[in-house]
Amino acid sequence: EGTFLWGGRFERKPDAETVAFSTSIGEDYRLYPFDILGSIAHCMMLERVGIISQQEREELCDGLRSIYRELQEGKIDFTPFEDIHSLVEHRLRELKGQVADKLHTARSRNDQIVLDERLYLREMIAVVIEKIITLQERILEQARAYPDLVMPGFTHFQPAQPVLYAYHMMAYFYMLERDIERFWDSLKRVNVLPLGAGALAGTSLPIDREYVASLLAFPKVQENGMDAVSDRDFILEFLFDLLSLFVHLSRLSEELVVWSSPLFGFIEMDEALTTGSSIMPQKKNPDLAELLRGKCGEFLGALVSLAATLKGLPLAYNRDLQQDKKPLFRSAEEALSSLDIAAKLVAGMRPLPQNMEQALKKGFLTATDLAEFLVEKGVPFRKAHHLVGRIVRKMLEEGRELTSLRAEDLGEYASLFEETLKERLDEQKSPLFKKSLGSTAPDEVRRQVVQAEINLEQW
Ligand code: ARG
Repeated sequence: EGTFLWGGRFERKPDAETVAFSTSIGEDYRLYPFDILGSIAHCMMLERVGIISQQEREELCDGLRSIYRELQEGKIDFTPFEDIHSLVEHRLRELKGQVADKLHTARSRNDQIVLDERLYLREMIAVVIEKIITLQERILEQARAYPDLVMPGFTHFQPAQPVLYAYHMMAYFYMLERDIERFWDSLKRVNVLPLGAGALAGTSLPIDREYVASLLAFPKVQENGMDAVSDRDFILEFLFDLLSLFVHLSRLSEELVVWSSPLFGFIEMDEALTTGSSIMPQKKNPDLAELLRGKCGEFLGALVSLAATLKGLPLAYNRDLQQDKKPLFRSAEEALSSLDIAAKLVAGMRPLPQNMEQALKKGFLTATDLAEFLVEKGVPFRKAHHLVGRIVRKMLEEGRELTSLRAEDLGEYASLFEETLKERLDEQKSPLFKKSLGSTAPDEVRRQVVQAEINLEQW
């Protein structure tokens, strides 16, 4: 019967091309720890319900543990096998003889594969969350290290209003917070036991799915077997959650690229995380940030690829489902290394305050502060907005900055002019005047940092 699990009804072996085209071992070998764990739980259940004896269970589990060790040590060549399930069962027969023929009782590869994937994914999600937390910690460190640093905030990539660098950093913290929540929430849909669905219809043998669920720490058993073997939406969700995470990280990377350009000079990046040019000797290029920015496309591709595979599949299992492996594994592995790089990039950022200060002087960033001052004095906002617009227009022509404001610039509102306005129009001080919850006022940013620390502890 060779390395296949299904020789009986066939006269001939599948030809080499059939095998090469349909095999999945090149991807699903990664599932071996989960496949073996699932098989051990399955054996324990088979014994408990009396389908196999205690001695058989001991033999099987002993063999499974040996195979785990062999695979861990790289002692098994997995290339001749169709998939990880065939490999394990085949090796079990080599090690333990006939008793191996009982392992697959009341089980199909259809419920087995999706069990493996669920076990894999819940571990992967835990690692992803951990790595996002590390990145959040690096972001918090930046926010804490420069509590008073002021920089231009942008809308439409035009200078808008002064903000604290820490405030800008905390924006990313809170994006990542939602990403963690999404992953965390998804666990309740990942953590459901499919095993026991059999090929699709369940089994006439007296299995105990709830016992298997308890052994594998699944709080729930999947209610419907056809759903259990067909369902890959928990993977689709994981890929979307990664996409959201990497949409955020691509925005962060983009800012690192822009800020580190000498045209901005807002930050200096750690040399170890940049590269040079083979022709232009002066270059220090932000390649890692660019690669991180570019990863997003792969996650989007993975999501679209799986959605396209799932769309229109009739129930229940179809071999198309095997093609969930590449998007899943590729994305998961890519995510881990990218998150490590993201954390390093953030840790390696050094803001350059002089350049930020220079940049703040261009673009009338305190124009809104002036309008709000006038509102405080009773001027209706739209009127104040128009007046400040006129002032900006005039100052542009005269080559002046807002801090040079004099009473006569206010025209009919000249009487409202106060010496203290100088401070109010000072870009460096602008954040101090903000009063709203969630604003860039230093006290408020400090509160956001404290709240972030509390949130971090809860995970
Ligand atoms: N390699 C398959 C997959 O990844 C496992 C299930 C195979 N089942 C089958 N009936 N051919 O989906």
